[in-house]
Amino acid sequence: MKGKFITVEGIEGVGKTTNIGFIHKLLSDAGKDVVLTREPGGTPLGEAIRGLLLDPQYKGMDPDCELQLMFAARAEHLARVIRPAVEAGQWVLCDRFTDATYAYQGGGRGLDTDKITALEQLVQEDFRPDLTLLLDVPVEIGLERASNRSTPDRFEQEQVEFFERVRQAYLEMARTHDGRYRVIDASQPLEAVQRQLASVFRSQLKA
Ligand code: TMP
Repeated sequence: MKGKFITVEGIEGVGKTTNIGFIHKLLSDAGKDVVLTREPGGTPLGEAIRGLLLDPQYKGMDPDCELQLMFAARAEHLARVIRPAVEAGQWVLCDRFTDATYAYQGGGRGLDTDKITALEQLVQEDFRPDLTLLLDVPVEIGLERASNRSTPDRFEQEQVEFFERVRQAYLEMARTHDGRYRVIDASQPLEAVQRQLASVFRSQLKA
């Protein structure tokens, strides 16, 4: 039996790391064999590409270069980790995937969506997530939470308006792909966020 491919999305400071840990435990406790991974990254080559993408010394990187590096890392990740795991019946829980490209490179950088769709088709063919959780918070709250972290990476150095465009692009995708999206109000206290997540997975685990 095939496994499932679940992605978690949101702007900086929505609590992805903590909540992915919670989902991981929820699925493992339900007897699922879970593979935890992330983008950009998830393989040795992908992590090297991640290093280039996040390095503030490449501030001002050409947006098409950024876009293609995201998909280069993704091609390796799909071939080496994601597809084999799903084929083997595992549940892959991925911290960001192609929706982040639509949100950041499309919404944030303003790249033409058709370019992203063309690369998505080239790299993924018909492979898409089974379920996408969008952890949503207003930008001011997310950035305030993220500001407590160490040195900001190349994306974290962007301005509020950039993250507003990213958030709106995510919310728009949630409206148009509502079949696979669940929007979680992550501005609530952690226990309330985790109650929402547990409720989503109750139905997923039955399916
Ligand atoms: P992370 O901080 O959530 O690990 O993600 C690294 C950064 O990469 C984050 O600021 C979002 C950005 N990103 C994109 O711009 N496009 C993408 O396709 C992905 C996967 C991430």
